[in-house]
Amino acid sequence: MDRTFVMIKPDGVRRGLTGSILNRFEQKGFRLAAIKLMHIDRSLAERHYAELKEKPFFGELVDYLTSGEVCAMILEGEHAVANARSVIGKTNPVEAVPGTIRGDFAMDVASNVVHGSDSPESAEREIGLFFDEQAALYLFPTPQVAAS
Ligand code: TYD
Ligand code: MG
Repeated sequence: MDRTFVMIKPDGVRRGLTGSILNRFEQKGFRLAAIKLMHIDRSLAERHYAELKEKPFFGELVDYLTSGEVCAMILEGEHAVANARSVIGKTNPVEAVPGTIRGDFAMDVASNVVHGSDSPESAEREIGLFFDEQAALYLFPTPQVAAS
């Protein structure tokens, strides 16, 4: 089964949108495989967005991502990366159509409420950054409690 990494960014958590956003993914058909509320440091934010480090908005992006708690999750499903990106909508909320998360919940590109990996390789890299190896060991298959 494919999996992807999704993160509700600080403004999404702060505004109380965590449940509404997760609901969109569950309604689409994703299975929630792991979820964690965390306050990330600058080092993790910089590694997560390493490919953007030359961009003029990189400093503000890191400030934003470290400004409050984020909700990190692993979602499983067919074509997980592409399906999650379509639920999320375009990067700039001005262009994101209604019905997508960014189209419905965001106004500005600098605070677009949610992240989704852009390729299966990015998904595995980002899952490795946010979920430690020990936790990852337990993700597949979901552990079953033995009947007693
Ligand atoms: P990017 O990976 O291009 O978009 P996406 O989140 O859709 O994969 O950019 C990462 C984040 O950087 C984006 O979600 C919001 C922020 N960003 C800006 O603040 N300004 C910009 O002009 C762009 C392109 C992105
Ligand atoms: Mg991206």
